[in-house]
Amino acid sequence: MSDRIDLATVNLDEGAHIGAGVAQKAAKMLRDGGLVAVPTETVYGLAADATQADAVARIFAAKGRPSFNPLIIHVSGTDMARRYGRINEVAMALADAFWPGPLTLVVPISPDAKLAPAVTAGLDTLAIRHAPGAMAQLAGMIDVPLAAPSANSSGRTSPTEAAHVAEDLGDKVDLIVDGGACTVGLESTIVCPSDDGLISILRRGAVTEDHLAPFGTLAVKDKATDETAPTSPGQMLAHYAPSVPLTMNVERPQTNQGWIAFGPDYPANLNGDGAAFQLSATGDLKEAGRHLYGAILALDRAGVASIAVAPIPNSGMGKAINDRLKRAAAGSQSPHSTRKRTVQS
Ligand code: TXA
Ligand code: MG
Repeated sequence: MSDRIDLATVNLDEGAHIGAGVAQKAAKMLRDGGLVAVPTETVYGLAADATQADAVARIFAAKGRPSFNPLIIHVSGTDMARRYGRINEVAMALADAFWPGPLTLVVPISPDAKLAPAVTAGLDTLAIRHAPGAMAQLAGMIDVPLAAPSANSSGRTSPTEAAHVAEDLGDKVDLIVDGGACTVGLESTIVCPSDDGLISILRRGAVTEDHLAPFGTLAVKDKATDETAPTSPGQMLAHYAPSVPLTMNVERPQTNQGWIAFGPDYPANLNGDGAAFQLSATGDLKEAGRHLYGAILALDRAGVASIAVAPIPNSGMGKAINDRLKRAAAGSQSPHSTRKRTVQS
């Protein structure tokens, strides 16, 4: 078993820091090339010192992540970001407005950035995020960025609680820092701000088009591509997948189906006594984002044969939710889906 430190009282929204003893232990493990699962406001990250090739290789091995898929580095603040990436004016304005927070900036990598080459998977750009709380604190303590993808096996649903990490990655992690449930629940918005003011949205998240619009001209480039042709990293169609088929936009689930309910129009009892999970009884999209992955993981674990999801309005945070659901649906039906449930026979 990996060590586990319980920090259930940490408020991820406010970016609470970890206590000195825990932080020292986690920082030492990171310095020694270890893998530490660290909570952020979005999802749990699987962190390693981004300058150590062996430590970064352990991330890819633990997740079963293809080597062509680059990692996000997590920094302690804009000063550290500037040491590794070229932050243009638009990027700086976005960092000022949204950091620490659920926004990742893809920028040209600095020529003297001494990162493990696997972090960027051979690209000349680098994804940088300043997350609130423990992740930034630990990066500051060891004075190097932490490479940290979501702490799940590649292609599976991202963890929003420490228990999800323990279940999925278990022994492959040296330490899990338990910060309770993530307050956002979906991975960060990823944008690439060009020098001429164009902001390409590569992955949707809690920082929405409405939030970004004042900072430049937006281009949404989050089209899901086929897994075999990953021209844009991070946009593989099959992703976030449960081990059973998932269907979106279901208005009337079957009685034996796992059911992800949403709002008053699609209540939890629509599938009779079947396993169900209400994302938000009032139809609040932020609350739904926070609960989505936990719902998928819980129904998957409950052993349902398939999962039906109620229609989610495609506005604000709803766009990010629908993006993840689309990929989860594709992934759950894909031949690459490796954890197909074996029914007792
Ligand atoms: O909220 C988050 O972003 C979480 C927490 C832990 O910070 N991290 C996360 O990491 O979601 P990951 O590795 O699961 O997703 C990062 C995505 C990947 O899809 C990767 O392809 C993309 O970012 N990415 C990394 N570097 C990139 C680059 N230079 N250009 C385009 N996409 C990049
Ligand atoms: Mg991920």
